[in-house]
Amino acid sequence: MEKDNSFLMQGLDPHDICQEFGTPLYVYDADIIKQQVDKFKTAFAGINYKVMYAVKSCTNISILKYMKHLGTGLDTVSIPEVRMGLNLGFDPEDIVFTPNVVDFKEIEAAVDSKVSINIENLQNLESFGKKYGSSYPVCVRLNPNMISEIESGKAIGPDFTSANKEHYDNISDEQVGAWHNQSKFGISLTQFDSILKLVEKYRLRINGLHLHSSHVILNKGVFKKGVKTLFKIAKQFEHLEYIDFGGGIMVKHKPDDVVIEISDVGPILKKEYDAFCHETGKNISVWFEPGRFIMSEAGFLFTEAVVLKTNGLIDFVGTNTGFNHLLRPMMYNAYHSIENISNPKGPNRKYNIVGNLCEIDNLAIERELNEVRAGDILIIKNAGAYGFAMSSNYNSRLKPAEVLIINGQAKLIRKRETYADLIKNQVEIMF
Ligand SMILES: Cc1ncc(COP(=O)(O)O)c(C=O)c1O
Repeated sequence: MEKDNSFLMQGLDPHDICQEFGTPLYVYDADIIKQQVDKFKTAFAGINYKVMYAVKSCTNISILKYMKHLGTGLDTVSIPEVRMGLNLGFDPEDIVFTPNVVDFKEIEAAVDSKVSINIENLQNLESFGKKYGSSYPVCVRLNPNMISEIESGKAIGPDFTSANKEHYDNISDEQVGAWHNQSKFGISLTQFDSILKLVEKYRLRINGLHLHSSHVILNKGVFKKGVKTLFKIAKQFEHLEYIDFGGGIMVKHKPDDVVIEISDVGPILKKEYDAFCHETGKNISVWFEPGRFIMSEAGFLFTEAVVLKTNGLIDFVGTNTGFNHLLRPMMYNAYHSIENISNPKGPNRKYNIVGNLCEIDNLAIERELNEVRAGDILIIKNAGAYGFAMSSNYNSRLKPAEVLIINGQAKLIRKRETYADLIKNQVEIMF
């Protein structure tokens, strides 16, 4: 294969990485992870803030360990995620459990682990009150259902980006930037009185208020309104220690994507934060739970072009990966930029790049790439968040290995699956 150094990762040629570890392969760049975490320092200077990395976006324990090294805490959504954090030495204080519609037993298990608890429905808040009263603090997740309701009947999916905006073509920019009330997440502000009744009835110690930033951070005006609303509500809770803006901060998938720089929203937050601290005499902290913001651009899926074929007018590049490894294009119609690093000077041609599953399995439609030959290495970008984490064994295909590039070295952080892994929990019965 012809060598080309136009795409290097910390000085390493991806071809060499593929040679050593094989493809398909998830590769993460520790420098990009650090750069993203560091952006919070600049954006929220003067605010007592905490980054709680959303474990679900990329759950590899070496990535979590690196987050610890960078000083982040963890946002977890299941007890195994809590366990991973504790086993890696995270302080329970630096772990928040933010599950969705879970059996109360999971919340009890999280309390037993002494982590921070976030509750998003009245039923579990009531159970929490009955069992713990004021003995254990709790954060409530709110759904402000403010600004606009989505008239179209389609809630904006969790993966909305300007890149796939056409998918939601009858939603206005204002609505894009809005929190909406069709989501299952959080307790609606229309039920705020019920929260207050439970607080009073069980003497609940509300130490945190949570409002998932979601797409709103795309729109400074909506973010400002949300921040103001939350700080106003916050004054009603005497035990409040933190406000949690959740995750959902977008990153670019294409050069012309419009995303907000967090340094632009920093001053909006700082103004309201300072006013709140001054008025209440409390130095509360502000938490963020970014997953995609930290991991998306830091991760790449390396795949090999295996088969080239033409059906009708369409040229297909068949790869050795698919939606079993990267679900986002099929699930959310997400755009992932793809580069042919083996033929960077080849003429541009248009292809449908497809996976090898026995299903419609598109990675990209009508995408221009430098001419692809069998054996070329394609790099799929923005694959670090919700890439490996959402992978499956569909079609009984094995999951790829994962590699972290750190200090100029490629380190294996997850072995490629084997046939033995695939069947290890299956039980063969006798007839
Ligand atoms: C409560 C909460 N925190 C954090 C996240 C992480 O979101 P993202 O990876 O988009 O930053 C999510 C995602 O849906 C979430 O619901």
